[in-house]
Amino acid sequence: MYSNKVLDHGTPCRDSATTVSVTIDGKSVSVPAGTSVMRAAVDAGVKIPKLCATDSLDAFGSCRLCVVEVEGRRGYPASCTTPCEPGMKVTTQTKKLADLRRSVMELYISDHPLDCLTCPTNGNCELQDMAGVVGLREVRYGYDGENHLGAKKDESNPYFTFDASKCIVCSRCVRACEEIQGTFALTIQGRGFDSKVAAGPVDFMSSECVSCGACVQACPTATLSEKSIIEQGQPDHAVVTTCAYCGVGCSFRAEMKGSEVVRMVPNKDGKANHGHSCVKGRFAWGYATHKDRIKKPMIRSKITDPWREVSWQEAFDHAASEIRRIQAKHGKDSVGGITSSRCTNEETFLVQKLIRAAFGNNNVDTCARVCHSPTGYGLKQTLGESAGTQDFDSVDHTDCVIVIGANPTDGHPVFASRMKRRLRGTPTQEGAGLIVIDPRRIDLVRTPHVEADFHLQLKPGANVAVLNALAHVIVTEGLAKEDYVAQRCDLGEYAKWKQFIARSENSPEALENDTGVPAAQLRSAARLFANAKNGAIYYGLGVTEHSQGSTTVMAIANLAMVTGNIGRKGVGVNPLRGQNNVQGSCDMGSFPHELPGYRHVSDATVRAQFEAAWGAKLADEPGLRIPNMFDAAIDGSFKALYVQGEDIAQSDPDTQHVQKALESLECLIVQDIFLNETAKYAHVLLPGSSFLEKDGTFTNAERRISRVRKVMPPLAGLADWEVTVGLAKALGYEMPYAHPSQIMDEIARLTPTFTGVSYDKLDRLGSIQWPCNDKAPEGTPVMHEDQFVRGKGKFFVTQYVATPERTTRMYPLILTTGRILSQYNVGAQTRRTENTAWHEQDVLEIHPHDAEQRGIHDGDMVSLQSRKGDTTLRAVVTERMQPGVVYTTFHHPESGVNVVTTENSDWATNCPEYKVTAVQVVAHAKKSEWQRDYEQFSDAQVHKVPDSAVRGEAK
Ligand code: SF4
Ligand code: SF4
Ligand code: SF4
Ligand code: FES
Repeated sequence: MYSNKVLDHGTPCRDSATTVSVTIDGKSVSVPAGTSVMRAAVDAGVKIPKLCATDSLDAFGSCRLCVVEVEGRRGYPASCTTPCEPGMKVTTQTKKLADLRRSVMELYISDHPLDCLTCPTNGNCELQDMAGVVGLREVRYGYDGENHLGAKKDESNPYFTFDASKCIVCSRCVRACEEIQGTFALTIQGRGFDSKVAAGPVDFMSSECVSCGACVQACPTATLSEKSIIEQGQPDHAVVTTCAYCGVGCSFRAEMKGSEVVRMVPNKDGKANHGHSCVKGRFAWGYATHKDRIKKPMIRSKITDPWREVSWQEAFDHAASEIRRIQAKHGKDSVGGITSSRCTNEETFLVQKLIRAAFGNNNVDTCARVCHSPTGYGLKQTLGESAGTQDFDSVDHTDCVIVIGANPTDGHPVFASRMKRRLRGTPTQEGAGLIVIDPRRIDLVRTPHVEADFHLQLKPGANVAVLNALAHVIVTEGLAKEDYVAQRCDLGEYAKWKQFIARSENSPEALENDTGVPAAQLRSAARLFANAKNGAIYYGLGVTEHSQGSTTVMAIANLAMVTGNIGRKGVGVNPLRGQNNVQGSCDMGSFPHELPGYRHVSDATVRAQFEAAWGAKLADEPGLRIPNMFDAAIDGSFKALYVQGEDIAQSDPDTQHVQKALESLECLIVQDIFLNETAKYAHVLLPGSSFLEKDGTFTNAERRISRVRKVMPPLAGLADWEVTVGLAKALGYEMPYAHPSQIMDEIARLTPTFTGVSYDKLDRLGSIQWPCNDKAPEGTPVMHEDQFVRGKGKFFVTQYVATPERTTRMYPLILTTGRILSQYNVGAQTRRTENTAWHEQDVLEIHPHDAEQRGIHDGDMVSLQSRKGDTTLRAVVTERMQPGVVYTTFHHPESGVNVVTTENSDWATNCPEYKVTAVQVVAHAKKSEWQRDYEQFSDAQVHKVPDSAVRGEAK
């Protein structure tokens, strides 16, 4: 029988240079100082019974099942709370210890339902195991006394139940919520017999719980159990794979029953998550088998036609003949494609290869265009590599953290938990300092046991001004790390930058009007960061999605260099990537100007290498970016587009412009798992495959390449990479791969930072952070250690230029957008899960002052209007917002917030300025005209899909 038990050392690993030797049941073992007797025993091959201890939590010592005898000591100490001391001699098995343990178990079992045979965790329950281990055969006290057997179940959470009748009050759940997740949602109420676990005054759903599942994972009984396990039963095998949601890239064991997932369990060996997860990865996987999945390829001539179900081959032939027809009529460059940051590296690599080698142009772009393209540009210019500098574990060594334009507790929750742990500190290590730079009062500003030292609540659009002012203080107050700069950076560029930044126009006082941040506060924050031994900067889309996005990334790099904070643990520039494989899709050559490995298409030597490998002539001019493709489609010069796993109709700004572009295409080929908003404009619909249906790799925000493993066959018969291969073949270009590992081998042959990567090595090491090559055969956790990749770090003058998007009398407020924990990107996946219980619609957050001025009450429907369009959504009146700024998310197509966002974009990369739109908010609104049209169009399109295409088997 499959067992989901993984080796549990009982208490966490201790990090110490000193080792201590002890003898346990006659076996000698040496362990780092501070290691518990329980953990040392596991190392010696001795298992001590336990219930309240687990190696993901600090020892608590409440159950007394783990008692041992120590030579020369009186009594029976708990092995989980007793640290090893030199020469200690421990005995774990004696008659007395056995009696003590049996008595403990007897007490637990006498207050526990005896329904093991019908219990959902039968066979995977630590309490049951321990009863067997201690040899409990009968319960002397009987079951008639006072007990908790009638305690009420809490089924409020959509994903797990809390059956209080089974609780042994070991407090593992409470400690998991505190130590691992950092939410502090659970408490033990009452004392003695009356003590019980409580999630707030009512239930889990109405408590502070964020449904991360850490308590469920920690519970040694069936008290906290996944509903999927209760409904489907225990798994029969498991496969290790990687979460397909955010850029943290958590590793999971997909626990399976046949080809059905019954549970996703965060993998203890996962180097990005160390056994933790969030609600999306752990619970929100049901979309993969949702009834809306497209299971048949379909084609149609016009978007007003119903879809016609066809075989894969007919779909490929039709798509290929349309591309060739259009190229013959409108030229080679009239077609292009968009790769997906949700698909694997191998799939992304194939799509850009298809476009460059089979379409014969460089018209390939990726959704990173609309999120982290400024990161690629800005970090390449300053440091020499388009990627973050650290691993996530680095945050454990940080003394001061700047979080700018990121909301990690919602966007990157597992990393946020780790960061909060460092911010809280431990009894032996003071918590790190925290500076939050954000227009909103994000949760990190104040959350249990964490409070930001400074919240620089800037006006949207003023990032560069704030970063310049911070650097100004550091330079003019003599806080720059001149030795570091002298050794590591280009001194000519540094001198230019220093002269610029020291100008009085960059002082916090001079910029106060632009930033909205009190100068004194900003000065103090600058001193805190500059004086920290290790300072780290974490940032997100609140940095990149601006007209000065690239400038901001360069200003961040300047700040890190001038404070000597790049090239070791605990420091660095850390872009928190949005989607699971944004880093990978950029690495794989998805941008129109770069071949895989960020090498410019104009480089003849690099091109020759790819031409030889691919057997095709490659274009030497950069192709069209996504916004250029839209403009060209409307102009009539761009006619066909292949979009893999990306919903541009919902995610890109200025929706009406995007819709017009899509309507102008003669052939739109969409490959997706659902009929997404873009697919409603398509002529060819190729069913996509979810991450559970294919092999491949994702690369997370730490440059960590992790395996994605197939756990079930593709619902439509083909994995995404096979679809691209089929399309290429129909175009007359062979891509003869039998397995994605062969695609990775090709990537390794052609990409210098990947030369040492292979599936065999990934299987052996678990994951690898690129660069992985001869110099770093097992990968590179921290970059730029001895010198910057570009040689000398380069400072750039970062002149603050206000966005052209200004408030006016007509549009007096600034809209900024973002996302929330339970939903993901355009919501196509998470809206098809129980996560909608937390966020069933996008809402508009507005400050009480702005609301009152407009006669808006909490919960009212309001009209959000900009010069681009208007939409109607529900208002939430909250002091999280500053006056003058409103906020919403873009997870639901019906609210269509991108109808309102503008064409403004980053000067270097065209990344849209989602974060600054001048708007008006008007009370008491009905649906906008756009919304009514959208509903009608969307409804009609859904009805054009034959039932059999979502119900049926693959042909
Ligand atoms: S699910 Fe997570 S947040 Fe909720 S109570 Fe459990 S540990 Fe805490
Ligand atoms: S719910 Fe589980 S983990 Fe929490 S106290 Fe009860 S038995 Fe222990
Ligand atoms: S933090 Fe990101 S990668 Fe990890 S489980 Fe959540 S969504 Fe998945
Ligand atoms: S396992 Fe040591 S006291 Fe519970």
